[in-house]
Amino acid sequence: MGKGSRTHSFDVAIIPTNSSIHGYYTQKEQNQVSVRGSHAQHTIGEAFQMTRQSLPRVSIGTARLCLRPTSATDAGRAFEIQSDWNVTRMLGNATYPPDKRAIGEWFSSHEREWADGTAYRFAIEQAGRMIGIVDVDGIDGRLGSLGYWLERSAWGKAYAFEAAQALIGFVFQDAGLSRLESGHASDNAASGRVLTKLGFEQVGSRELFSHSRRESIVQRCYVLEKEARNIGLKADTGD
Ligand SMILES: CC(C)(COP(=O)(O)OP(=O)(O)OC[C@H]1O[C@@H](n2cnc3c(N)ncnc32)[C@H](O)[C@@H]1OP(=O)(O)O)[C@@H](O)C(=O)NCCC(=O)NCCS
Repeated sequence: MGKGSRTHSFDVAIIPTNSSIHGYYTQKEQNQVSVRGSHAQHTIGEAFQMTRQSLPRVSIGTARLCLRPTSATDAGRAFEIQSDWNVTRMLGNATYPPDKRAIGEWFSSHEREWADGTAYRFAIEQAGRMIGIVDVDGIDGRLGSLGYWLERSAWGKAYAFEAAQALIGFVFQDAGLSRLESGHASDNAASGRVLTKLGFEQVGSRELFSHSRRESIVQRCYVLEKEARNIGLKADTGD
C-alpha cells in the first residue's frame, strides 16, 4: 500500500447531537464544538482537553453521508440489512438468519458503550436513509477495532471508504486512539480494498469461527497506525 492509493479526501463536519443523555456539555460548550473543515482539522479535543469519558455524541458529515451515533431505534433497519445473506455472511459475529432480539439488545448497549469510551458506533445515512453501520469497538487504551457494513444496494459507491475515513479521523483526533485493527474474510476482496485504500497494512491472517456461516474461515488481519496515516496524509497533500 503506498501513499498514492489514498487519493480520496472528504470534508467532514462534526455536528453535536442531543447529548443531554449524558450531560457532557453545557449549551455554550456544545456551540463551540461545531467545527467544519478537513478531517485533519476537526479537533474538538483540543478545545476542551477532553477525556475519553467526556466525548459528546457527535454526528459527522461527509461529502455524501451523515454518520450519526446509533441508538436503540436503529435495530429494525439493521435487522432488515442483515436479513441479506450477502451482507451477513461477511460478518463474523452476526448470525443468519438474524436474531431480532439480539440485534435489539446490541443496539440498546451502544449509548452506554459510547459513554464508557469502549465503542463509537455510527449509523451511515445517505439522503436521510440508514444504509449501514461503521464503528470502532473493543477500545482498550489507544487501540480499537474498525468495522463496517452496508446494505447491498449501497455497495460499489465507495460509501464504506468515505464513512470509515471520517470515523478514523474522529477516533484518532478526538477520541485519543493511535492504532486501529481490522480484518476481513479471505473471500471478501471488496473489504480488503477498502482497508488498503484507508491506509491499513495487512499484518497476517488467522482462523476464526464465523457465526453466520457456522464454520471456520480465514480472516486477513490489518493494522493502521495513526503516525503512519498522518505521514500518508501529508504526502498526499504535498505538505
Ligand atoms: C465490504 C463493503 C463494506 C464495501 O463497501 P463499498 O462501499 O461497496 O466499497 P467500495 O465502493 O469502496 O468498493 C470497494 C472496492 O472493492 C472493489 N471490489 C468490489 N468487489 C470486489 C471483488 N469481488 N473483488 C475485488 N475487488 C472488489 C471495488 O472495485 C472497490 O475498489 P476501487 O475503489 O479500487 O474501485 C460492502 O461490500 C459490504 O457492506 N459488504 C457486506 C458486509 C461486509 O463485508 N463488511 C465488512 C466485513 S470485513
